Amino acid sequence: LNALRRELVDVQGVPLFWGIAEEWAQVESFEARTDDLLISTYPKSGTTWISEILDLIYNNGDVEKCKRDAIYKRVPFMEFIIPGISNGVEQLNNMQSPRLVKTHLPVELLPSSFWKNDCKMVYMARNAKDVAVSYYYFYQMAKMHPDPGTWEEFLDKFMAGKVCFGSWYDHVKGWWEKRKDYRILYLFYEDMKEDPKLGIQKLLQFLEKDMPEETVDKIIYHSSFNVMKQNPTANYTTMGKELMDHSVSPFMRKGISGDWKNQFTVAQYERFEDDYTKKMEESTLQFRSEP
Ligand code: PPS
Repeated sequence: LNALRRELVDVQGVPLFWGIAEEWAQVESFEARTDDLLISTYPKSGTTWISEILDLIYNNGDVEKCKRDAIYKRVPFMEFIIPGISNGVEQLNNMQSPRLVKTHLPVELLPSSFWKNDCKMVYMARNAKDVAVSYYYFYQMAKMHPDPGTWEEFLDKFMAGKVCFGSWYDHVKGWWEKRKDYRILYLFYEDMKEDPKLGIQKLLQFLEKDMPEETVDKIIYHSSFNVMKQNPTANYTTMGKELMDHSVSPFMRKGISGDWKNQFTVAQYERFEDDYTKKMEESTLQFRSEP
């Protein structure tokens, strides 16, 4: 039996959980199907939220149907392989189409079958500072991560891309570029927070699906932070304690934009912004400025 190894191992320069690196050949040869919908995000960018919304859309707003299983079973996390504990590739191979597939891989590591099959993909990006904060708490509660150290130490690692799934900067820019050539709907967490109806309408248009307004309203309600936080099939509380300890920090933590203001010191903010400008300046990708 393999105990949980809290180690990251580089795959083509990107730090990943030890088990993913160990079983990389399985991930690389994953067979996407033409009717798969890929949900791609950098960690802590609203993956679970957009997954719940999409499962509700796929089931025409049938809330009970969407409680058939935990979110990580309804929308398997493709590359998540911890030998003896979890295998996203196997889960997906055993799943009927149409599948919703979760990934956190940067574009250059995505299995080539997704590109070959021209699968539709939904990417959700969230502003870097809120992601860094959310990731710091997640590193502490989700036990497959190494110890994050202090916030200051973790922030350094985040800025250097030395966290699981690598550089946030490369991730958001890489997927932004790919949207030019593939069927990628690129969304922002902050926009979804501000106007979930518009976000859902964009998803429906992308999926070429019509839906009565009352169903859309029902989906907005059931995918709201407070309702999802109380829903055991959406809030990850059913996951084993060896993987996630919600008493350290709940998976559904705050669900707001701008929480970074409660975490960053002024000095950290200034250093972060300076470095951010350098890393993001040649990209046309813009995150909305925060109030
Ligand atoms: S993971 O582990 O990478 O898949 O995590 P992910 O789901 O991407 O991100 C978790 C953060 O998203 C917040 N969240 C939500 N925000 C708003 N509305 C809804 N419905 C929602 N569901 C999850 C969650 O609280 C985490 O953010 P923080 O800032 O830590 O609260």
